[in-house]
Amino acid sequence: MLYITRKEHFSSSHKLDNPEISREQNVEIFGKCNNLHGHNYYIEVTLAGTIESESNYVMDLKILKLIIHDEILSKVDHKFLNETEMFKNVIPTTENMVMKFWEVLEPKVKRDNVRLYSIRLFETEKNYVEYRGE
Ligand code: NI
Repeated sequence: MLYITRKEHFSSSHKLDNPEISREQNVEIFGKCNNLHGHNYYIEVTLAGTIESESNYVMDLKILKLIIHDEILSKVDHKFLNETEMFKNVIPTTENMVMKFWEVLEPKVKRDNVRLYSIRLFETEKNYVEYRGE
């Protein structure tokens, strides 16, 4: 099995706020993240697969790049996440974001020889969440 990864970058703003609890509880749980603020996110999308006979690639990484741009970056880059279609009913924590990105990308990258293996979403240089669809 071969694992291929494309890394991309986007910048978005968000606030972590649960509308079902009080203002005080939101501040207690989310602290400064309850305020509007932004992040420079990095996303790493890894596919697992075997060599495709004609190209000798698992998947041309230019194709993976285009899929990530069309399905993710065009919808979140330079956007206020809380008001995007993707996160209007979901609190945009890194955890929720990476699971939503999986849901969107998984059917788009699937081929006979390849499947989505993992997505890592870096919110800062030091913090990231990895999801493998399990
Ligand atoms: Ni944040």
